[in-house]
Amino acid sequence: MDGRVVPVILDVDTGIDDALALALAVASPHVELVAVTTLAGNVDVERTTANTLAVLDWLGATDVPIHRGASRPLVRSHQDAAFVHGTDGLGNAGLPSRARALGADRGPAAMVRLANQRPGELTLVCVGPLTNLAIALNVEPRLPELVAGLVVMGGAFSVPGNVTPAAEFNIYVDPEAAAQVFAAPFKRLTAVGLDVTQRVVLSRAIWQATAHAEQGAAALVSRICRRSFVERDLDGVQLHDPLALAVASDPTLVGCRESHVSVAATGEERGRTREVGSGSATVAATVDAERFMRLFTAALALPDA
Ligand code: RIB
Ligand code: CA
Repeated sequence: MDGRVVPVILDVDTGIDDALALALAVASPHVELVAVTTLAGNVDVERTTANTLAVLDWLGATDVPIHRGASRPLVRSHQDAAFVHGTDGLGNAGLPSRARALGADRGPAAMVRLANQRPGELTLVCVGPLTNLAIALNVEPRLPELVAGLVVMGGAFSVPGNVTPAAEFNIYVDPEAAAQVFAAPFKRLTAVGLDVTQRVVLSRAIWQATAHAEQGAAALVSRICRRSFVERDLDGVQLHDPLALAVASDPTLVGCRESHVSVAATGEERGRTREVGSGSATVAATVDAERFMRLFTAALALPDA
């Protein structure tokens, strides 16, 4: 990784792995976290926004503006993933809530404003449903020309989905938004789907090693992942969103195919992402999982397992 610093707008539905992506963005010397936009996804937008505030303040990143976004998908009613992330969306960890002011403009408007203020510089990293970005594209059709690139955590291309056999959660929740995003003429669109994100996992051993951490990212990991390992007895927490964030600053972490991506919106196929011929999107097919895990644990200063 060269010394580049990539300015990023991170679009989140904070959630456990979104929180870990925020921690990586704050800690990484290769990321400038310009702003965070929130929306309904893992839990409702009030909670995803409150969670984002709590996580950034926990990490001391009190200067990063947060812009609340979409409260529901474009067309459908909202379907959450509280059974995965807890009713509060952060593993019911009970982080101290903070009430600092949110950014004046809403998520999609902030994306458009910042892209116009820094044309050609910003990378959008979307790790929740694509509702905010679809609205932003509707308001500013030039957005694909105004940003340096787009990384989407979403889709399942050569593996089964995690909501239905066809669909990954972020695409399933708002397939109409996803279809609009993948049809837009982004110069560099990288789809980081379950094909690669399921292969980067925070192990029980790494989590157990954070047990005595009292502050910072290690204590955050300890608290928000407890429910996953204790109540749900999982073997590991999949690092979907941190990998997508890391790809924005180091694309060499994944091996990609050039494709055009189509998104199904109805019936049993709802949310299926397909590679249909050649196109401008790059779909991540392989990942250097060991190098990512070294990068992730080092950036968050997690104790050795
Ligand atoms: O399918 C995984 C994705 O859905 C992650 O972004 C997770 O946070 C949820 O939003
Ligand atoms: Ca997410």
